[in-house]
Order: sequence, then C-alpha cells, then structure tokens
Amino acid sequence: MKTQVCIIGGGPSGLMLSQLLHLKGIETIVLERQSREYVLGRIRAGVLEHGFAKLMREAECGERMDREGEIHEGFYIAHDGIMDRVDLHKYSGGNSVVVYGQTELTRDLYEARDKMNGIVIHNVEDVKLHDLKADKPHVTYRQGDEVKRIDCDYVIGADGFHGVSRKSIPADVLKEYEKVYPFGWLGVLSRTKPVNDELIYAKHDRGFALCSLRSQVLSRYYIQVPLTDNVEDWSDDAFWDELKRRLPTEVAGRLETGPSIEKSIAPLRSFVAEPMRYGNLFLAGDAAHIVPPTGARGLNSAASDIYYLYHAMMDHYLNGDDTGLEQYSQKALARVWKAQRFSWWMTTMLHTFPDNIEYDQRLQEIEMEYLFSSEAAQSSLAENYVGLPF
Ligand code: FAD
Ligand code: DHB
Repeated sequence: MKTQVCIIGGGPSGLMLSQLLHLKGIETIVLERQSREYVLGRIRAGVLEHGFAKLMREAECGERMDREGEIHEGFYIAHDGIMDRVDLHKYSGGNSVVVYGQTELTRDLYEARDKMNGIVIHNVEDVKLHDLKADKPHVTYRQGDEVKRIDCDYVIGADGFHGVSRKSIPADVLKEYEKVYPFGWLGVLSRTKPVNDELIYAKHDRGFALCSLRSQVLSRYYIQVPLTDNVEDWSDDAFWDELKRRLPTEVAGRLETGPSIEKSIAPLRSFVAEPMRYGNLFLAGDAAHIVPPTGARGLNSAASDIYYLYHAMMDHYLNGDDTGLEQYSQKALARVWKAQRFSWWMTTMLHTFPDNIEYDQRLQEIEMEYLFSSEAAQSSLAENYVGLPF
C-alpha cells in the first residue's frame, strides 16, 4: 500500500490529523493497535481549550461538541474550608474552556473518518518504522500471519506514551526529561448529578481532590492516592467517604453518590522527548510528552502539535514550502514546555507531598494566598488554563 502520510496511533492526535489532512486532499492511513471499542472505552480527558474546540470545528467534527459540550467560564479552588473562584472569562480576555469528554470527541473523529472513507486499520501488531532518514520511509505491520507494508512520504508517531514511534529514534539522538510524582489519581465516573456547575480543584491535608463532570447526569471525580494503592483497595463507599473528607463541608453535604461505572488509577508523571522530529518521522501528543493531569494540559498539548503539523503538511503539499516541517520540533516544544511548567505549578500547589518539609508547606500556603490576592497571578493562571496561543 502507498499513502502520503502514515499515522501510527488512532487516538485523538492521530485521528484529528488524519481528518484535517484529508479535508485538504492529503492522503493518510492510520494504524491502531487496539480495536475501536477498546479505544472508545478509555475514560480520560474532559476539558478542552478554546483553540482545541476551534480545531475540532475546522476538522468538521465540532457539531456534537458544540451541542452537548458545556462552556465553562471559570472554576473553583477549594482550600482551608472555603471556595475561591477563578474567573477565566474575566482574566483571559473573554476566553473559556469546553467540557466535553475525550471519549466523545474520539467517537466524533472516528465517525467523521468513516464518512469520508478514511482508512483506519485496527488490531495491527508489530508495527515497525523503516528508513526514517531516507526520502521514502516505510512502515510494516502484522495482521494475523500476514505482514503488510505501507510506503509513504512521512510517518507521524501519534501512538501515545507506550508506542513504538519514539522508541524508533536512536537513543543517542533523543534526550528524555522525566519527573515521576510519588502519587496517582484514583478516578471514578458515576451516573450522578455533578456536585457543582463548575469544576472544583480541592487542596486538602489528606490529599488533592477534583470534582469534574461530563454532562449534567455524568460526574467525574478524582482523589490523590499513594502509588502503592490498587483500584481493588477502593470500594465505591470508601472512595465517596474520602472525597467528602477533602471537600468543604457545604459541598460534601450536597455530593450525590452512586455506583461507579469506571474506576481507575493514573500515576502522575511529567515527560518530554526532544527533538520531536527524526528524519521523516514526526512525534505528536503523548508519544512525545506527558504532563500530570492537574490543569488539563495533556490532550490540549497534543492538539497544539497537531495544529503545527497540519499547517506544516499543508505548506509542504500545497505550497512546496518546508519551513513548517523544519521548524516543527522547535515550535511544538516551545509550547509543550510551557504546558509542562503550568502543570507542574498546579500539581505542586494543590497536592500533598509525602516528603515535604514545613518550609515547603508554608510556601504552598503562600502560593494560594498570593494567587487570590493578585489579579496578575489569576491572569497568569487563566491564560494558561484556557490555552496559550498556538
Ligand atoms: P493516546 O490517546 O494515548 O493515543 C495513542 C493511540 O496509539 C492509542 O489508541 C494506542 O492504542 C495506539 N498505539 C499505541 N502503540 C501503538 C502501536 N505500537 N501501534 C499502533 N498503535 C499504537 N488531557 C487534557 O488535556 N485534559 C484533561 O482533562 C485530561 N485528563 C486526563 C485524565 C486522565 C485520568 C488521564 C490518564 C489523562 C488525561 N489527559 C487529559 C491526558 C490525555 O488523555 C492525553 O494527553 C491524550 O490521550 C493524548 O492523545 P494521543 O492521541 O496523543 O495519545
Ligand atoms: C478532568 C481531568 C483533569 O486533569 C482536569 O484538570 C480537569 C478535568 C476530567 O477528567 O474531567
């Protein structure tokens, strides 16, 4: 088989790029290791930057998001028994975020690909990238006993943190930066009315908690847990009890509980791989960088990579201009590192660190005090949360 751009990974990054390029007449094939049902069963992100929402519309996939997604103009930080509101709209010059689940967004992208007869091949095994430094690289994969080959101009590594693409770059070319946090987030999805109209990030001595939502009948909650905990250690009742303890009394009092329909633990990690280009391979999304979830930057950082790649590919194929491709890694990484900084800052301010000394705790407290006493500090939070410009 032949195509112009072979995309490894059928998550949001890969599907979005495939859809955007197809609309410009550029051919792609997407290779996905899992079945579609499996990909759509993963519960992940819920908060989209306004720039991401714009890209979904440009990909002609924004209709359901605009109908069913919620526009949020602020969120709360609960601390010391009180709730302080961050006015995103006021402090970001009129911007907001869209609360719309990654699962729904991925479903919309798959449907759009189907409608345009886009090629997405599922259940591929042993994906291997070849001749990445040559003019014409190729990709091989196995389906059952058959090994197949795709010849292309470019390979996009959008296969997430555990994918094969990043690992195909020689170790002496790649510099990896990593920070592992000593805790994870235990997340629960439940068919209950959200406790609040807007998200609540809660700082508490017992650990961080987050009240989020997917719709007015579907809630998503998280609590900070030690890395040693397993999902099986947490009954639904134990989860709700612990969540309540970490929320202001008034909020805990109106929390509607119910059976969990999904429960999982995600470790918190920061990771960046540089550069994001090797020959004709371009990395995008979680394949190149991971942030701790605090501040909802992960999926949004993937979207900015896709924005840069989409424009670079258009310039190459439609205008014969390779500047965008040449500058991709540098441009993408500049924004990625800003998302790293912001996620690190939010994580550090809101979590309980097991090895913190009293001095660190005082700094955490003063960070919060400063935030809500300074309009400049709230503007900084707001401009990062709604998304820095691409
Ligand atoms: P992925 O979604 O990981 O997709 C990669 C795809 O590649 C997968 O489908 C995988 O099966 C496939 N693949 C892997 N290896 C291969 C292979 N060898 N061959 C072929 N295919 C392969 N981000 C936010 O912006 N906001 C949030 O609110 C937010 N909340 C989160 C909450 C949780 C609990 C978690 C875990 C993450 C959250 N994130 C959030 C992060 C966000 O989910 C990710 O950044 C996003 O999924 C990245 O998309 P991606 O397409 O780059 O990678
Ligand atoms: C969600 C996840 C986040 O990491 C975040 O900062 C906000 C919301 C969520 O899954 O809804």
